[in-house]
Amino acid sequence: MTSPAVPPAARPETRAASGQESAGPRHVGIIMDGNGRWAKARRLPRIAGHKSGVEAVRKVVEAAPDLGIEVLTLYAFSSENWKRPEDEVGYLMGLLKQYLLSEIAELDRNGVRLSFIGDYSRLSPDILALLEGAKTRTAGNTRLRLVIALNYGSQDEITRAVRSIAHDVAAGRMAPDAVTPADITARLDTAELPQLDLVIRTSGEQRLSNFLMWQAAYAELVFTEQYWPDFDGESLRRAVEAFGVRERRYGGL
Ligand code: FPP
Repeated sequence: MTSPAVPPAARPETRAASGQESAGPRHVGIIMDGNGRWAKARRLPRIAGHKSGVEAVRKVVEAAPDLGIEVLTLYAFSSENWKRPEDEVGYLMGLLKQYLLSEIAELDRNGVRLSFIGDYSRLSPDILALLEGAKTRTAGNTRLRLVIALNYGSQDEITRAVRSIAHDVAAGRMAPDAVTPADITARLDTAELPQLDLVIRTSGEQRLSNFLMWQAAYAELVFTEQYWPDFDGESLRRAVEAFGVRERRYGGL
């Protein structure tokens, strides 16, 4: 894999230094939380919340390009979500399959390029084949990059990056003291994506839960009380607006 000479997330100066502080976020990450509580409030099974969550995914994917968003990273399944009951895990995987099968044509028509981050090793061969197919089919699209985080966890991602550096050091390709943050950034699953500008979490929880923790070093955080199935294009617009009034200093004055 070729890495960018200066990986995007290692360039905290980008927007501040270029005087573009008021520009909207290019890369937005969303922690789609609250599907279960949304369902519980309606006396529905939890899986009904996940099903409605897919509708919210459709709405934000449709709204994102018009808000100037270039990359949208969605936390669909964390490396910790395997701890959920087997039937819920199976349902979530089924929803994802169904989403890819039924939406791919429309996503492609709308200029959406699909990518995936996370550790693929635990995913079933049929899902892997779907991911590969979706990536290949949409590779030339440029209107929106939709990144789905699947079996993803930041600590796992950083561990994989560090392991790869350790291999290079052990093989004499790299000197231990020469390792920089940019070397770690270049080995993350997000290496080829622009720096993360904004993280949104729904359902009132205020934590990162192992989502893009390295990449979020200088990201703005927006928390909303809405449960994920209630989130829509207007909610995304409000989050982007909240981002627009933040002053990003990247540690400077
Ligand atoms: C968190 O709600 C949500 C998830 C663990 C899954 C998110 C998945 C989807 C929205 C559907 C599939 C995604 C795509 C991209 C098609 P929760 O169950 O933790 O809610 P709770 O905290 O209220 O229990």
